[in-house]
Formats: sequence, C-alpha cells, structure tokens
Amino acid sequence: MIKNIPFKNLISNQRPFFLYDEKKLISNIAHVRKVMKNMLNIDVSLAFSLKTQPNYKIIQTINQHNVSLDVSSLNELNYALALGFDPERIFVGGVGVTESAIALSLETNVGGLHLNSIDGFECAFRIKKKVTSNTSLSVRFHPNYLKGTKLGETKEALLARFARSKILDGLHVYVGRESFEQNTVQQLFSDIEEMVAENLFSDSWTLYFGPGLPDLDQSKLEIFKINHRIKDIKIEVGRSIASSCGCYGAPILSVKNFSAEKKTVIIDGGLQHFGSPWVNLRHGPIQMNAVFCNAKGKQKKVSNASAAIYGSLCLWHDCLHPNFSVPEDIQRGDWILVPHMGAYGLTAGVPLFIGETLPLEFYYDGKRYIDVTHHNFGTI
Ligand SMILES: Cc1ncc(COP(=O)(O)O)c(C=O)c1O
Repeated sequence: MIKNIPFKNLISNQRPFFLYDEKKLISNIAHVRKVMKNMLNIDVSLAFSLKTQPNYKIIQTINQHNVSLDVSSLNELNYALALGFDPERIFVGGVGVTESAIALSLETNVGGLHLNSIDGFECAFRIKKKVTSNTSLSVRFHPNYLKGTKLGETKEALLARFARSKILDGLHVYVGRESFEQNTVQQLFSDIEEMVAENLFSDSWTLYFGPGLPDLDQSKLEIFKINHRIKDIKIEVGRSIASSCGCYGAPILSVKNFSAEKKTVIIDGGLQHFGSPWVNLRHGPIQMNAVFCNAKGKQKKVSNASAAIYGSLCLWHDCLHPNFSVPEDIQRGDWILVPHMGAYGLTAGVPLFIGETLPLEFYYDGKRYIDVTHHNFGTI
C-alpha cells in the first residue's frame, strides 16, 4: 500500500504520522472471513477487538462492513456506543469488566457479555435477574495448555459449576499467537464438545473464538482444518484485520556511524507511539520493506546498508528495530515510512510520555487523504 503514496503532502506537517488505507481494511475483512470459513467449515461472523485499533474512522468502516465489535472496558463500551454501533453487535469481555461495565452492558442490551471468571459470571447473572436484558452471558475457558495463567477458567472448574445446568449462553476462548497450532486448537475444540455433551450450554449457545491470528500478509501462516460439530461460532480478531492496513511515517533526526557494519538512526517518533517494537514476538525482528524519501518527498533507494532504528525517548528500550535495511546516503531530514503498522499503534503506546511530538493519522478512502487524528475517547 505504501509504494505510491504522495509523500509530499503527508510530510508537509513535519510530524510523524499514521496512514490507514480503507481498501486494504475491507479486503482484510473479506480475507479473514474466508480463512476462518476454511478452517472451521462453516460461515462465521467476525467481531473486531477494539483495543487493537480504536481509531474512530476505522471502527466506522468496520461497522459498515457488518463486523461486530469486541470491547474490554467501560470506556471502550461508552466509546462504541457513542460511535453509533448497534448494541446487539457489541460484545463486552475481558479481565477489566467491572460491575459498572456489566450494568451498562445489560442496560443497553449488548449482544453478549463474556465473564473472565465464574465469580464474574455469578455477579452478572445476579444483576441480569434484576433487570430486563437480552444480553447473553458467557464465561471464558482457558485450559492450561494455552499460554497465560490468570485468564478464564479450566474445563474442570466449568464442569464442576455448570454441568447439566444449560445456563451458559456461550463460551469465550482466546488462543493467542503463542499457542495457535493445529494440535492445540483441535484439542480445544474436543474439550469444548465434551462440555457440550455435559449440558453446560443453552440450546442456542454461541462459541466466541479468538484464534490469535497475526498479520496474515506478513506471517504466511498455514491455516489448518478443525473437526467439530459446533453450529454458531463468532470469531474475535484484531491484528489480522488491522495490521497491514496501516503504516507509520517519521522524520529522521540523526544518523550516526558508531560502527562500520551498522548505522544508528534516530527518528522523531518511537516506542511512545506503539505498544511494542517492530518485531514479531514469535519470530523476532522482521524486515518490513520500508520506504524512504528525502525532505522534498522524493523516494530514496534502499541499499544493503543496515541500521538500528531508535526512537527519540532516549530510554534503554527505545530500539524499534535492531537491523533495518536503509539507503546508503540516509541523513537527517529524510523520512522513513514503515508498513504493517495499523494495529497496536498510537493508542496502545504511551503517547503523552515526556511531551514528545504526537503523530497525525490519515485515512485514505480511495479518493482523499483525510486527517482522522485520534484525540481521546471523549472526543469524536
Ligand atoms: C480476548 C482477546 N480477543 C481478541 C484479541 C485480538 O487479538 P489478535 O490481534 O490476536 O486477533 C485479543 C488480543 O490480545 C484478546 O486478548
């Protein structure tokens, strides 16, 4: 998406920026639907995890393309409602779901409420009994063969509490990037079918399944098939939809040659704009085919020269990438534009830390580059 960008306009503000591409966003939605249909052999509906990328324009496009929204806090719920999302297509879940979040979810009749624990479920169940609400209630299942220790409940705990009750409207499971592989996911579905046989669920129950798919353009992940007899599955995704629809641009502040093999490049931006450095947690640093241009917006040729890219926070962990291909003549005043930066960007970082320059966000709707800078959850 970044090959033909009008650099001149985007860099004229002299500020780092994010740029999101609508066409790519829409094609990612269609692609993920197809991938999940192939994996599970049934039509699935998608829910987008708001925390991955809360920019209002992206969320509005997601809404228009019939993707539901997955929110994890009272703030996120209020934000989704303020953006006009149909409550029936909002799903609330996560460890941070407080009683106020439960109450508002039930009051506004959101589609579903996923409780992270049995005691959370009991609390929601009690509140629901006192109010009239169509919201379905589910619990998070987290077997010990999935990474992470503080999330969800085990099969044993769920069977002990809910067997033969038919009380659950759904089950919520997130596999995650570290555990997503065929044997694990197949085992998970077998465990879920065991719970179905033990009558934990109502007749019209739903499985809310977060596979933990990475950026599919980058990872070339092999998708396997899963055997199961579950009829209603909602898929919860984040990066596979958002990552490759966005890129990040920043001006270069300095280039140093401390060693003959590798340059040190410092940009006017950095970790404060991101939830994590530009590496893949499973496979380490990845080459991202960035584009470079000079101060006038003229593209520069990338060479074999290698650089460690640092942000401007001057903190020990502010290395965005240890080994990046850059132009041989890279210099102060040039710009770097990095693809695959549409997820866990600005709003997942610490943007206000020591008052660093904040990036702008642009949105390309096929005709125009619109300034859609995200300010905060209270301002739309
Ligand atoms: C419960 C849950 N659902 C969905 C997501 C979105 O994740 P992904 O980017 O792996 O699709 C996350 C991310 O951590 C999550 O914790």
